[in-house]
Amino acid sequence: MGTWLSSLEAEARRVLPDHVFEYYRQGSRGSVTAGEAVSAWERHRLVPRVLRDVREVDLSTALLGEPYAAPFGVAPTTLQRAADPAGEVATARACAGSGIPMVLSSNASATFAEVEATGVSWWLQAYVTEDRSRMQPMLEAAVAAGADAVVLTVDTPVVGTKDTASGRTVFDQVPDAWVGTNLGVAAGAPKARDLGPDDIGWLRERTGLPVVVKGVLHPEDARIAIAAGAAAVWVSNHGGRQLDRAAPTADSLAGVVAAVDGAAEVYVDGGVRDGIAALTALALGADAIFLGRPPLYALATAGAEGVARLFRDLGDELVEALRLAGFTRPADVRGPGGSLVRGTS
Ligand code: FNR
Repeated sequence: MGTWLSSLEAEARRVLPDHVFEYYRQGSRGSVTAGEAVSAWERHRLVPRVLRDVREVDLSTALLGEPYAAPFGVAPTTLQRAADPAGEVATARACAGSGIPMVLSSNASATFAEVEATGVSWWLQAYVTEDRSRMQPMLEAAVAAGADAVVLTVDTPVVGTKDTASGRTVFDQVPDAWVGTNLGVAAGAPKARDLGPDDIGWLRERTGLPVVVKGVLHPEDARIAIAAGAAAVWVSNHGGRQLDRAAPTADSLAGVVAAVDGAAEVYVDGGVRDGIAALTALALGADAIFLGRPPLYALATAGAEGVARLFRDLGDELVEALRLAGFTRPADVRGPGGSLVRGTS
């Protein structure tokens, strides 16, 4: 269908320099995982409920104890300044206006203070460095600046080789100032290949913030993360940019939700591009849905207003999908075993 949302990627491809669009779009290796992320949501079939009062739909959602206007958020992505001169600050403004959280990549080009000044609820995404002490100054600065949570990305012991045809990395083609403003002594530090459950407790202790563990696909890892103190588990395959041929998040979510069994919040990202996919994620048990590439594409095509429009349109689509499925609140969709989704009840 020809909606603004569905044309976003093509529009971004048109307006962005090739090497930037390529960086946003790409997956790792053969891009199998990146390539099937969207269609994996479309494979689920829904069994709507009828004969229900769906006049008043309310998308508001509490995450980590904070109220938000909708069950959406912006996933952490690098190089937002390549999409719009205002970069993360534009995204933050849009999220603040939309009442949704923004996860700030640790590679971001905006300072914590600039992001905080927009009034957005922002969560710092972090990678644990091999030498833990090198990431501490950044953590302390984020806490002091007003971060509301730490999102620990756990799927990146090494950076997956991308499917770039040219073999050139985008980072050699953009100004240094566009990357890693807040990293300080963590800049260039090797990532921890010995990342373990103890790092979750360590982060929680160091920051005093809820720790969200991003990049979980296996139900057993969800259990381990929660036992180690995670406040939320985020089902993600990094947009298909780490292990290629990793399972689609649309197929992994239900197993993680079952393993978590209400002990923590569960988020999901990867290939969510419309309101019906968002409804499906909610039905499978997600508390919130994050988007990575679409906000970049919206930034590229229309700046902060584009990002605001993205979440407005997505919200409108979710409201329609909820009504057609017989629900009025995101939290109600999560039937026992996700009964709205055929085959999972
Ligand atoms: C990412 N992602 C990512 N994740 C993370 O934890 N730290 C990061 O710095 C980045 N950087 C990044 C850059 C770009 C260009 C992309 C596309 C992705 C992964 C991101 O947070 C998220 O998991 C996926 O993008 C979600 O999939 P969709 O919505 O892009 O399909």
